[in-house]
Amino acid sequence: KPIVLSGVQPSGELSIGNYMGALRQWEQMQDDFDCQYCVVDLHAITVRQDPKALHEATLDALAICLAVGVDPKKSSLFVQSHVPEHAQLGWILNCYTQMGELNRMTQFKDKSARHANDVNVGLYGYPVLMAADILLYGAHKVPVGSDQKQHLELARDIANRFNNLYGSEDQPIFEVPEPYIPAMNARVMSLQDATRKMSKSDDNRKNVITLLEEPKSILKKINKAQTDAQNPPSIIHDVENKAGIANLMGLYSGATGKTFADIEAQYAGVEMYGPFKKDVGEAIVAMLEPVQAEYKRIRADRAYMDAVMKAGAEKASARAAVTLKKAYEAVGFVARP
Ligand code: TYM
Repeated sequence: KPIVLSGVQPSGELSIGNYMGALRQWEQMQDDFDCQYCVVDLHAITVRQDPKALHEATLDALAICLAVGVDPKKSSLFVQSHVPEHAQLGWILNCYTQMGELNRMTQFKDKSARHANDVNVGLYGYPVLMAADILLYGAHKVPVGSDQKQHLELARDIANRFNNLYGSEDQPIFEVPEPYIPAMNARVMSLQDATRKMSKSDDNRKNVITLLEEPKSILKKINKAQTDAQNPPSIIHDVENKAGIANLMGLYSGATGKTFADIEAQYAGVEMYGPFKKDVGEAIVAMLEPVQAEYKRIRADRAYMDAVMKAGAEKASARAAVTLKKAYEAVGFVARP
């Protein structure tokens, strides 16, 4: 089976953007791919985190992965800091990445502008650690939202560079990974500003719906979501001119499986946004209901979560160690006797 790796940061409560853009694919790929999924706590500390909050958020994220259907019998699910090979390969790859390449990363530019008082070296090197995550497992496919595409391109460049230096045509050191971006909801937008990505760490909580959000709050946020001043109002998928409605249609489609054509037909002639928004809110509530119930059950069972983390880290480490050894040999390190 082709190999898959993906990760999610425990930097706040996960959002419906994380779910529709990535986690849902994680669940769906498990039968056809050999999947490794990790909660990337090393990445999370590239912006300042409260230690207690990070600790809880890591367990929360793990429980969410399980609640959305990641099955530890099929896939490896682990916490990144439990597998030291990530940091170890990350260091090596730092030495094969140019500052000029990292200067071009749009996520770094955004984050360093937002956290101007803490533009640390880890934030700068974030994409290199991400490349290490992926290359350690020989991943063929990386299911992510479209915001991660540039990081994936860098991971490919680093892999090719290393292979060209140290590998051979038939024995490359690293597999060169491909992004796996969903056709729908690859970029869920903010509810109050449909030109910006929905981000779990947004200070304006009206922009975000989290996976653990109360139904009442979900309905309210969708009801207040940005639409447009078209007169009369129409529910038509037009990203250019009706970005807010297009985003809500994406969410509705994601929650119900209806196509945009279905949705347009459903509201043809309804010259109000209210009823549509109510339906969108209710569909999201219904989609999240089973996830929330599972989450509560799993999060209360620390012994189970510990067993998952332990088995996941062992499986992941065993595989990662093989690739790390290849990389150590490639660069000329002497094996520890
Ligand atoms: P993170 O934690 O920011 O997001 C987790 C996943 O959710 C996707 N995503 C979205 N998809 C659609 N719409 C949105 N509004 C939205 N917001 C987030 C992200 O694209 C991501 O797939 N760098 C990664 C974490 C990471 C990783 C990796 C991913 C670390 N190492 C290795 C893949 C492979 C990140 O920031 O995730």
